[in-house]
Amino acid sequence: MHLSRRGLLYGSAGVAAVSLAGCGESEASTQLTGFTGIAMPTTTSNRWVVEGADLEARLQGFGYRTILEYGDDDVEAQIGQIKSMIDGGVEFLIVGAIGNKSLGEILGRAKNQGVTVISYDRLILETPDVDYYASFDNYQVGVLQARHIIQRLGLEENPGPFNIELFSGSLDDNNSQYFFLGGLDTLESYIYEGKVNILSGETEQEPTSTERWDRKIARERMARLLEDHYEEEPLHAVLSPYDGISRGIVEALVDAGYEPGADDFPVVTGQDAEPLSLKHIKEGTGQSETVFKDTRLLAEVAANMVRSIVDGESPEVNDLGSYDNGFKFIPAYLLPPVDVTVENYQEVIVDSGYLTEEEIDGAAPDAD
Ligand code: GAL
Repeated sequence: MHLSRRGLLYGSAGVAAVSLAGCGESEASTQLTGFTGIAMPTTTSNRWVVEGADLEARLQGFGYRTILEYGDDDVEAQIGQIKSMIDGGVEFLIVGAIGNKSLGEILGRAKNQGVTVISYDRLILETPDVDYYASFDNYQVGVLQARHIIQRLGLEENPGPFNIELFSGSLDDNNSQYFFLGGLDTLESYIYEGKVNILSGETEQEPTSTERWDRKIARERMARLLEDHYEEEPLHAVLSPYDGISRGIVEALVDAGYEPGADDFPVVTGQDAEPLSLKHIKEGTGQSETVFKDTRLLAEVAANMVRSIVDGESPEVNDLGSYDNGFKFIPAYLLPPVDVTVENYQEVIVDSGYLTEEEIDGAAPDAD
């Protein structure tokens, strides 16, 4: 089996001869007002809904005008929205991209008008016209998910073998490969050792991918894998990159007769600390882990990038050499993701004010 290496994704810091000059500073002299267009990808995942509102509130709190649009997972719709924002005179764009390679032309137009572009959470590829990247350590997200599986199955101490299946996110989202490789690299030694088997043999990013991060697509793939490979064999864990996908996986497991809460229910990971997934974690009725990315901090980072440039300063970045978008290493501010289970959800999620117990308990079920 061929497993790709982290080094393929991550350039060495020494390569990062990134000049920050021209990244918006020159515009400060032209009396920027902070007018910002916020292009978010979707409302199907709770985090983006919260963040759109959060970004608006923060920027408006600085006295800046904002436009907020959601692209409904439709690449062309998002391009149209960005075009209207540029035509409307925005000076900044904060973009949570839908198609990571589809924005080159429209961002070229933005650049011609002197707009500063901040790639938000997901890196925009194959264009020179991205100025900054605000995100999380996406590789670490996958590491945390895999570590949860290692710990829950006791891979260190138990002889196994254990059966695991892998899921990855949307192929056109640059984050997917980071999550997937972080997970795969962490599980790799157990796979080589023969302690972990992947009976489907689907270990590459493409066959494990989930278009648009869609729960139903994940449910269908899980159902197929169970039917094809696990009629006789038990499944012990599923590496899932995102809560919506995790819930689709759990639905398929339940349909196939696995009982949530029972000792033989597979370990399922997740990401985004969505209320419904936290409810399952709390009640022991589905996935047992999620990775929390404090999106309040991400919104703060992005809003502060805008403010710094308006004030004529360079935005704060903490990474110059990890994220190559095909044209250049994008100066980035990366935040740390946090592993969340039933043991620490109160402290990390509730005590920090991200969600209340009532919001978790009262989380609406998925639509269908
Ligand atoms: C990714 C993002 C995840 C999750 C996923 C599905 O780009 O980093 O946190 O939200 O999209 O929306």
